[in-house]
Amino acid sequence: MTIKIFVIFYSRYGNTMRMAEAIAEGVKSVEGCQAELRRTAELAPPEIVKRDERWASMKEHLEKTYPLVQTSDLKEADGAIFGSPTRFGNMASSLKDFWDQTSGIWVEGGLINKVGGCFTGSATMHGGQETTILTMWIPMIHHGMIIAGVPYSEQVLMTTRDGGSPYGPSTVVGPMADQPPTMNDIVIAMALGKRVAELTVKLRH
Ligand SMILES: Cc1cc2nc3c(=O)[nH]c(=O)nc-3n(C[C@H](O)[C@H](O)[C@H](O)COP(=O)(O)O)c2cc1C
Repeated sequence: MTIKIFVIFYSRYGNTMRMAEAIAEGVKSVEGCQAELRRTAELAPPEIVKRDERWASMKEHLEKTYPLVQTSDLKEADGAIFGSPTRFGNMASSLKDFWDQTSGIWVEGGLINKVGGCFTGSATMHGGQETTILTMWIPMIHHGMIIAGVPYSEQVLMTTRDGGSPYGPSTVVGPMADQPPTMNDIVIAMALGKRVAELTVKLRH
């Protein structure tokens, strides 16, 4: 039976999307595991998005490439990894809005004992990546999920001067959000995907 790990993310300029894609590669590197990428909804009014060419074209790309997440995806998921840009040290409202639709799953205990993790990105190195990931864990704890970070056995964590922490993968995108994830960021992202997949396989056997 194939194990499905959902990677659910919000992205305005595509950096969080690139991290999600690397996480999916990590998931797929584990035998018997499949990655399912889903985007959360763009909540900004279309007239605002239209004013920013990069935002508008990324929105179009995301809508063409990845299905909009449904709460039923969480039922189908064997594990789930959540990604959001840092917004004032916290997750983006779009991802929070998705969580706010999950009370039915919570009542059913639909996420209890499923493994998950989180990833983020921010404009600046110390702009709140760790607080974002820590606060992203809160709904997961309420849902009974088992949270995985990235252990220091992932050697890149010891040396990177880019994103990434034991709390989870991250990337520093600069004030214009035009600095894509580095190789170190990608390696740490893949490590989280692989770890969540491996832990899910272990729990299933
Ligand atoms: C409303 C808002 C709040 C933000 N808050 C922070 C912040 O607290 N710290 C920081 O370093 N960057 C902050 N940023 C920058 C974003 O985190 C950054 O542009 C994002 O990670 C890019 O990801 P994306 O390409 O997936 O959209 C903020 C951006 C917006 C629009």
